[in-house]
Amino acid sequence: MRRPLVAGNWKMNGTRASVAELIEALCQQELSPGVEVVVFPSSLHLTQVVEELEGRSIAVGAQDCSSEVGFGALTGEESASQLVDAGCKWVLVGHSERRLILGESDDVVSKKFVAALECGMAPVLCLGETLEQRQSGQTLEVVGRQLARVIAEAGIAAFKKAVVAYEPVWAIGSGLTATPQQAQQVHAAIREQLAREDQRIAEGVRVLYGGSVKAENASELFGMSDIDGGLIGGASLKANDFGAICRAAGN
Ligand code: PGA
Repeated sequence: MRRPLVAGNWKMNGTRASVAELIEALCQQELSPGVEVVVFPSSLHLTQVVEELEGRSIAVGAQDCSSEVGFGALTGEESASQLVDAGCKWVLVGHSERRLILGESDDVVSKKFVAALECGMAPVLCLGETLEQRQSGQTLEVVGRQLARVIAEAGIAAFKKAVVAYEPVWAIGSGLTATPQQAQQVHAAIREQLAREDQRIAEGVRVLYGGSVKAENASELFGMSDIDGGLIGGASLKANDFGAICRAAGN
């Protein structure tokens, strides 16, 4: 059995004060022990969140890391080694906002994935197609290509520790959610692609769905056989909504 995982991607949001309030409210939520919960604050707030969540069952991750490990001359970047030192256990790699707005290539994404694992963090590899790609019937091809690049760079064994997140670009922050059937089709294809390399690893990999997940639609999505939890943007900024989504993953 795969343990459900719910991840909150706070993106470029929050101040020290609002982050403190959010954490306090999150700590009031009743979370099911069967569900793993991780939050991804901006890197500015990582240390604060790690400190304020100490002793709680919510882990902390970063939204990105450098493709370079260790330390060195790379202005503005943060390496996986530094993030581990700050208390991060997880890191998002290849979020579509970074791929599409900041021009991150499959090559860079796969190097970041490897860098995270090398330093002992679990990467959450984000994959997804644009609206145009979906409308022209290229969804499985696009997602398959993004995944293949990472398998080629990191090897299938890397997926023992990694998580995959399917996030259709058209569903992110748009209020449009993929139907459970649309999401399930892609999730199953992702698992099949991994299974062609190693059946056992594929069965253990958690594949999250992301894109306008809300308390109201979470249960139906999480009820699909290959959907193992969610990567939550907007709704993760509201403790009650995020708590309800986490509970939905436990049912
Ligand atoms: P959303 O974002 O839940 O606001 O659509 C999801 C994400 O980008 O991870």
